[in-house]
Amino acid sequence: MLNKENVQEVLKDVIYFPKGDNIVALNMVENLMVKDNAIRFDLVMEHANDPKNDILVNGAKRTLTEVFGEGIDIEIKVVEEKTALSKVKHIIAVASGKGGVGKSTVAANLAIALARANQRVGLIDADIYGPSVPMMFGLGNEQPSAFEKDGKTVMLPIEKYSIKLMSIGSFVDADRPLIWRGPMATSALNQLMNDTLWGELDWMVVDMPPGTGDIQLTLAQQYKVSGALIVTTPQKVAFADVLRAAMMFKEEALQIPIYGLVENMAYFTPSDMPEKKYYIFGKETGQQFADQLGVPLLGQIPITEKIAECGDAGMPLALDADSPVTKAFDKIAQEIINTK
Ligand SMILES: Nc1ncnc2c1ncn2[C@@H]1O[C@H](COP(=O)(O)OP(=O)(O)O)[C@@H](O)[C@H]1O
Ligand SMILES: [Mg+2]
Repeated sequence: MLNKENVQEVLKDVIYFPKGDNIVALNMVENLMVKDNAIRFDLVMEHANDPKNDILVNGAKRTLTEVFGEGIDIEIKVVEEKTALSKVKHIIAVASGKGGVGKSTVAANLAIALARANQRVGLIDADIYGPSVPMMFGLGNEQPSAFEKDGKTVMLPIEKYSIKLMSIGSFVDADRPLIWRGPMATSALNQLMNDTLWGELDWMVVDMPPGTGDIQLTLAQQYKVSGALIVTTPQKVAFADVLRAAMMFKEEALQIPIYGLVENMAYFTPSDMPEKKYYIFGKETGQQFADQLGVPLLGQIPITEKIAECGDAGMPLALDADSPVTKAFDKIAQEIINTK
């Protein structure tokens, strides 16, 4: 008999192979209506214009016809999935081959520079090994607020300096990062991305853990990342790490474009002589790295006590419009905005 319950049952035989389950279980069937001789529903797909959608639509029609007969009128409308991230225009990953090179410093100051350029900015701290957004933004123990919506817990990001912030530090026990590998790290990242009310954002900056682990793979495979920014220091030995990080993004399976390289700690500028530049590790190293990778060198950030002090005090240096470091971050922000 043709009724809603039976149609629902039959649709459970329609498998969406990329996700390995049936379209009902995957919540892909919406607004199902069965009336007289007609079946109508919306099929929720990740991308409305994917030519592969037709295969699934035709499969569903065939399955329904086999059970209910040729005479029924079937209308299936493909609609695009609305997610917490559907109003986020660009995701940008700030990455490096190893820790301590200044990823978090670059991510935080870049977020501030983007916001100064009138962009709507979110910052996700995804470094399971050493979350640093809470300290760099002076959040203390402040936690994002959470509430129930449609039977699901959703979180509101903390907002500071016009930037919406979420840290994996809110979920991870900082003393035991290793047990957070694998599925737990992945699910924490997914919660940060999907269960947070981000609202409309031009840029979502993701401060990545070092290296090439589960977080990197999850981000690259499950989300549409617009590009990666790779942070390095100028020591010659650092190149192997930079190369590894860059190769991961370029890998065929991931294919994330690289915006460019940021050379942190490129030279030393004493606080009392802000015009002086001492290139301790050589002047051209960052440019050489960038040339070898075939990506632009987007900026050179000096070693300066001020960056570290400001980071520790919860006020990223790029908030100070007069600092020369700020100009470097403004330039990087502009280059990235120009890629749109
Ligand atoms: N350009 C810089 N000058 C001085 N100190 C810096 C600079 N960049 C980063 N630091 C300091 O180095 C340490 C590591 O930086 P961080 O951004 O946390 O690195 P990562 O996120 O790559 O592990 C921090 O204490 C930070 O304040
Ligand atoms: Mg960090």
